[in-house]
Amino acid sequence: MTGITELNRFSDRQATLKGWVYNKRSGKAHIFIVLRDGSGLCQCIVGKDDVSDDVWLAAESLTQESSVELTGMVKADERSLGGYELHVTGIYIHQITSEYPITPKDHGVEFLMENRHLWLRSQRQWAIMRVRNEIIFAIHRFFQDRGFIQMDAPIFTGNAAEGTTTLFETAYFDEKAYLTQSGQLYGEAMAMAHGKIYTFGPTFRAEKSKTRRHLTEFWMIEPEMAFYDLEMNMNLAEQMLSYIVAEVLQKRKAELEIIGRDTTLLEQVSSPFPRISYTEAIDILTSDKTREMLEKMEGDRQAEKTALDEELKALNSEFGQAKKGRKFQIEGRTREIRARIEEIEEDFRNIPVWKKSALEKKWGDDFGGSDETILTMQFDKPLMVYGYPTAIKAFYMKRDPQNDEVAMGVDVLAPEGYGEIIGGGQREDNINLLLERIKEHDLPEEAFKWYLDLRKFGSVPHSGFGLGLERTVAWICGLKHVRETIPFPRMLGRLYP
Ligand code: 4AD
Ligand code: MG
Repeated sequence: MTGITELNRFSDRQATLKGWVYNKRSGKAHIFIVLRDGSGLCQCIVGKDDVSDDVWLAAESLTQESSVELTGMVKADERSLGGYELHVTGIYIHQITSEYPITPKDHGVEFLMENRHLWLRSQRQWAIMRVRNEIIFAIHRFFQDRGFIQMDAPIFTGNAAEGTTTLFETAYFDEKAYLTQSGQLYGEAMAMAHGKIYTFGPTFRAEKSKTRRHLTEFWMIEPEMAFYDLEMNMNLAEQMLSYIVAEVLQKRKAELEIIGRDTTLLEQVSSPFPRISYTEAIDILTSDKTREMLEKMEGDRQAEKTALDEELKALNSEFGQAKKGRKFQIEGRTREIRARIEEIEEDFRNIPVWKKSALEKKWGDDFGGSDETILTMQFDKPLMVYGYPTAIKAFYMKRDPQNDEVAMGVDVLAPEGYGEIIGGGQREDNINLLLERIKEHDLPEEAFKWYLDLRKFGSVPHSGFGLGLERTVAWICGLKHVRETIPFPRMLGRLYP
């Protein structure tokens, strides 16, 4: 058996490909089968005059997603997908598929999500998963090459790490337990044993919001380093993101092309990233520049909608007299326009809300998704925002020694409107201050006894951060929603498939 990606070694030789029929076109003399084998696609040609009647009939019977083995001669052909074709001489059928639900026509996203187990076979979804895989490997390489030890944090935990409002509670024999929101607290213990560690595991948040950036189950990468301050932490985050993006651009170019990702801005992702304080971020959000940007956005959308409305009218009046092929085109374009108009109308509803949220922002307020979007639209690279108000950050964050109101935390916001992909900072290493924070946040002191021990036995300055894998995949692939970044997304209202 040969993989499609290995065909270059079989030029002018016989090979057998095992896979599924992705697409089929039949003519009088030839049947063209696009075969999918998991590693790629290959055009396979059955010539009526070249094969026995049995083989021709077998080819005729093939349907989308039928499972087959095709044997034939491998021929180099520049014009062909992947550069090689298979001139078929033999067909072995595993199963003829009937009524495969996902056809080449447009399906709504809800339908596709219901069929996620099958949707994963479509080319675009296939390409996204390959990019995800590349990102995962790049992250491991980055940390392993720098002496970090990968360690796993538990998934059942007795206490909250990131506030008590998004906890998934579960029974743990006679005790109450929670699914972990973050491996960080355990990461801190592990960093005191190994110096530099990272966790890479599933984390859970009972997020009741249906947004394009929230999952209830997502994967987080959390490095934690002894003797690192906030500045060193930010340098590491910057180097890591630059490395991941460079690796994907180099190794997954073909996949990014399938996804249709414009990589212009990704190519600019290299150190240094802009770094601004939370206070500066507030100034940007409330500036005239932000107001003008949003007003321009409204104007641009209005102009786009007017043009689309006119195009729709024209297509509509053409439809009656159009030939069959043209009718098909008109229907396709009409669907596209309608979908875009829906997006624009959503923007019309959103922009005033975004504007109000940004322009009325006061020191002490947290940033919402739209505020992050507005901030990142004003920078071409990932943006680091540090020094958030203590009141809106987690109990473990160290306070700025110069200013008690400011926490030494940093968020990294991905450009092109993506927003937060990293949250992190320097940790409180003084046992008395940490105890105070635990009380202020109304957390059960008993549950944190082990965590306090880390400040009792050889406490050192230390820092770390958490990178959300799915948001990173969404940004690098240029996807609107995180639901396509993970094989089987878990979100509010989605537990199947
Ligand atoms: O900012 P967060 O909540 O930070 C922490 O959990 C820290 N304990 C991390 C640390 O310092 N070790 O989450 C970190 C990242 C976010 O920036 C985001 O990328 C991702 O995790 N994230 C989510 N991704 C998808 N769906 C959700 N509901 C997410 N919540 C957080
Ligand atoms: Mg955060």
